[in-house]
Amino acid sequence: MAWTNKEISALVEPDRAHRKAYTDEDLFELEMERIFERAWIYVGHESQVKNPGDYYLARIGRQPMMMTRDHYGEVHVLYNRCPHRGAQLCSARSGNAGKRIRCSYHAWMFGLDGKLESIPAIDGYDGTNLTIDGEDFQVPKAARAASYRGFWFASLAEDGISLEEQLGEAKTGFDQLIDRAPGRETEVVGECFHMVQHSNWKIFLENQLDASHPGATHESTGIAAQMVERDMRADGRSPPLSYGFLSDFARLGIDGWGKFGTVGHPHGHCTLEGYMGLRPDDPETNAYVKAMYESYGEERAEEILGVNLHHSLIYPCMSIQPPLQQLRTIRPISPTRTMSEIWHFRLKGAPEAIYQRALGYYYLVNSPSTMVNADDLFNWWKVQHGLDSQGGDWVSFHRNAGFDIIDGNLRKSPEGSMSEMPLRHMMHVWRDYMTAEEGA
Ligand code: FES
Ligand SMILES: [Fe+2]
Repeated sequence: MAWTNKEISALVEPDRAHRKAYTDEDLFELEMERIFERAWIYVGHESQVKNPGDYYLARIGRQPMMMTRDHYGEVHVLYNRCPHRGAQLCSARSGNAGKRIRCSYHAWMFGLDGKLESIPAIDGYDGTNLTIDGEDFQVPKAARAASYRGFWFASLAEDGISLEEQLGEAKTGFDQLIDRAPGRETEVVGECFHMVQHSNWKIFLENQLDASHPGATHESTGIAAQMVERDMRADGRSPPLSYGFLSDFARLGIDGWGKFGTVGHPHGHCTLEGYMGLRPDDPETNAYVKAMYESYGEERAEEILGVNLHHSLIYPCMSIQPPLQQLRTIRPISPTRTMSEIWHFRLKGAPEAIYQRALGYYYLVNSPSTMVNADDLFNWWKVQHGLDSQGGDWVSFHRNAGFDIIDGNLRKSPEGSMSEMPLRHMMHVWRDYMTAEEGA
């Protein structure tokens, strides 16, 4: 059906959303057009294209894009489409194209910035309107591309607010991921975990700041981690800190998560306070703090380490967990399919043990053999099935509805609550994006 703005608005009420927002094919197309092909969308970190000739493929909305690094060191975001007959230019997910990108179909050659450099037997074009520098024969660039401290985004809309304005204060998540490195730089480690979630992209975002789910969904994992910790201690070994992150799921119980505040920011971003106690008094952590003091001085180092942030959700496409050095990004495929990438980062200058601790968590939570991600994915799949059914039309976000605390342009959850404020907040921003154009 052709949706009017009025009909779209009616899908979002103050404390609930209609299931059609998660299931309808036409609405999904509109989401791609009005949100993902308009807003600033995360492409990748600059270290994913570290060397000249490197490229990395990333979908933005429905568009196949690639991030490249040219031989002057500049990063570009291009459409992955040959201007000759339309072939995809790079087909591996990432790689190095060498000095230039060669289309495999008829060997047109392009610079890493998308500029057409040569065509075999070019005299065949004499007398036609094809020219080497003709606009139609270059690989098109994203309308806008920008980096926030090495994290690259692109917008496919010519006009709109700047990346910094879209990120606002939620950019602290990126700052933390960099500033927590004594060497003041961060870089991706290896490849990411890739998976296709069999659920709508909004279900993933909602889950990231759904405080009432960990104690229920991940309780069994928490209990198993507690048992392993107990066995290790009985053997005289001390369990790795990453196991403690998991046993928290059982230790805190279902309603123990209310003490961690959440904040809704402009443009749909949301943040969750830290809860993991990542400064235990152990030699590794003390060595890390010492390295931070040496790099920044005590006052600034404490300021950085004192930021109380566990999770930043950057609407509509990603989330960052700086203390755990991980970043997740989503690429919607259809109303019921969402590609996700989970990246792990190395903080330059941090002791190896700190890196290993975060890596341990990364594997324990995200690897194909973990129960944490598997339990989440299973829930989201079940939610999608329920929403596809006619067993009810509404998704409830009622917890603490009507009790948000407004603080300037921020919306905060009441203290001690497991408020569903972030879920309501994102859905209201969804409605704003979807109905922003007049007269539709
Ligand atoms: S389609 Fe690329 S060179 Fe022909
Ligand atoms: Fe979860």
